[in-house]
Amino acid sequence: MDSLGLFILLMLLCFQWTTAPAGKEATWTYTGLVGQSEWSQYFPECAGTSQSPVDVVTTQTKYDPSLLPLTPLGYSQHGNKPFSLYNNGHTVVIKLPEWMGLGGLPWLYTAVQMHLHWGSGGPSHGGAEHTINGQSADAELHVVHYNSELYPDMSTAMMQSDGLAVLGILIVTGEETNTAFNNILNYLSRIRHADQKVFIPAFDIQSLLPKDLGRYYRYNGSLTTPPCYQSVIWTLFNERVQISQTQLLKLETILYSSKSEESDRMLLQDNYRATQLLNHRVVFASFSAESGKELSSGEVTAIVIGVMCGCVGLAVIIRFIVKTIRFFTLLHRESVVVNSSTSSWDVLPSNRPAPMLRMKEPEKGKEKKQDMALKSTSEAEKKEEPSPSPQTEP
Ligand SMILES: *[C@@H]1O[C@H](CO)[C@@H](O)[C@H](O)[C@H]1NC(C)=O
Repeated sequence: MDSLGLFILLMLLCFQWTTAPAGKEATWTYTGLVGQSEWSQYFPECAGTSQSPVDVVTTQTKYDPSLLPLTPLGYSQHGNKPFSLYNNGHTVVIKLPEWMGLGGLPWLYTAVQMHLHWGSGGPSHGGAEHTINGQSADAELHVVHYNSELYPDMSTAMMQSDGLAVLGILIVTGEETNTAFNNILNYLSRIRHADQKVFIPAFDIQSLLPKDLGRYYRYNGSLTTPPCYQSVIWTLFNERVQISQTQLLKLETILYSSKSEESDRMLLQDNYRATQLLNHRVVFASFSAESGKELSSGEVTAIVIGVMCGCVGLAVIIRFIVKTIRFFTLLHRESVVVNSSTSSWDVLPSNRPAPMLRMKEPEKGKEKKQDMALKSTSEAEKKEEPSPSPQTEP
């Protein structure tokens, strides 16, 4: 028994030793000692080739007509059970009830949680994770689901390639207050420090999403935080949602990444990861870029002016060509007339142009009548040339 006790003690010590570095899992940050560029030293998957977020270059996306509108399931049936709002030191997390899910993917996905990413410099200073054509939004909402058809729970699913489905919603700043987001923002002051949690009244999660759920980008990627598992089917909506400047300011300045017992308070800001290389991946679009573009009035004006200039230019060119043709035709006729004095037998055909041709080619002639009429003078000559008719000599 003594030796067994010693063995267990040794095992426990060993376990302590081996898990000690793993304790750093809780200490990763966005900048500093275990910042983004160091994540892969502790979490190897962060150096993978299918990482998120990415920059979506719209001209390089591939339109896939089989990508149907996503259907949030039960997002609006929140029931009366309060949601929990939690500051985990990296973001604010809202736990979602298990009856919420996602339809429109090859499997049924069950909602787990949602959280936000943001910046620090106010509007137009970044904060979102995904970018579109290099353009950054002010914040980004992620709604996380796991594949409940194939896997029993989130922790199993998050390590499988088709395990997770995350919705990415880009948030920009505008004039109007987005009352849906106040369901979260109004309670941030109760969870200012890391590890703090509060229950908030349940609300309609769908009200946080853009109206147009039919237009989105789809690609295979990863968790945007350690351990960066490459298990996420990403859906990034084309439509952005808008919050007010005051709302963005709340998000950026209320929370701390430090715990309440820590003396050095650290604001929880700039909790977004830099965009990662696409590598071999393709970003699919559920809509085609041409029809998808809504033009601003400036763009419309530019196009109208462009088209008008183009038309005027074309008219000038056509006029020039027509004039040149007329000039050369006249020149040719004159030379023919001059020639007629010496070898005159090719003058006659040019004097009776179109009717002769129509009689020769009755079927073909219909559509080309006008063309023929124009060219007839010169063509008639060519055609008549080989036919020996020297008897018409005057
Ligand atoms: C994601 O990867 C799977 C194979 O692992 C593939 O079948 C699927 O088409 C990919 N989806 C996208 C959007 O690239």
